[in-house]
Amino acid sequence: MDHPEHSTWVIAIGNQKGGVAKTTNTAHIAAALGRLGRKVLVWDLDVNYGLTSHFGIPPMAYSGTFHVLTGEREPEDIILTHEDPDIELPNGVHLIPSSRDLEKLDAVLSTNDLFFNQEILLSLLRGYRIKGRA
Ligand SMILES: Nc1ncnc2c1ncn2[C@@H]1O[C@H](COP(=O)(O)OP(=O)(O)O)[C@@H](O)[C@H]1O
Ligand SMILES: [Mg+2]
Repeated sequence: MDHPEHSTWVIAIGNQKGGVAKTTNTAHIAAALGRLGRKVLVWDLDVNYGLTSHFGIPPMAYSGTFHVLTGEREPEDIILTHEDPDIELPNGVHLIPSSRDLEKLDAVLSTNDLFFNQEILLSLLRGYRIKGRA
């Protein structure tokens, strides 16, 4: 039986305006939920990779959003956790990092007659459970 405490919530934080604390709030909400014992997956969809930088991750060092959205990699294979060497994420927080590669996304998808929409995001994560979660 579903129990609210064990359900998965999706929280999207977005605004076209820059400098309004999207990245800062995302990082703090994720860290706070992690401290409360929740497992949190943060997905950086920003071409300017603000959240990736916020957590001290070099943007080109790892496969991330671009590779997942183009189908080159599966999310569960590239998600970073605090257990990975050289990664310092808050407890319970997992990250799909972003990079400048995302600038090429429209061009790559359109050559395959695809376009980016929220269904792509949801289908990638449907049925997915962060490793370690029961
Ligand atoms: N509550 C706050 N008080 C003071 N400065 C803040 C606060 N929240 C965010 N900032 C600062 O505002 C700037 C923009 O925040 P950021 O989260 O990068 O915005 P966005 O992601 O919307 O572009 C950053 O320098 C950040 O440190
Ligand atoms: Mg930002």
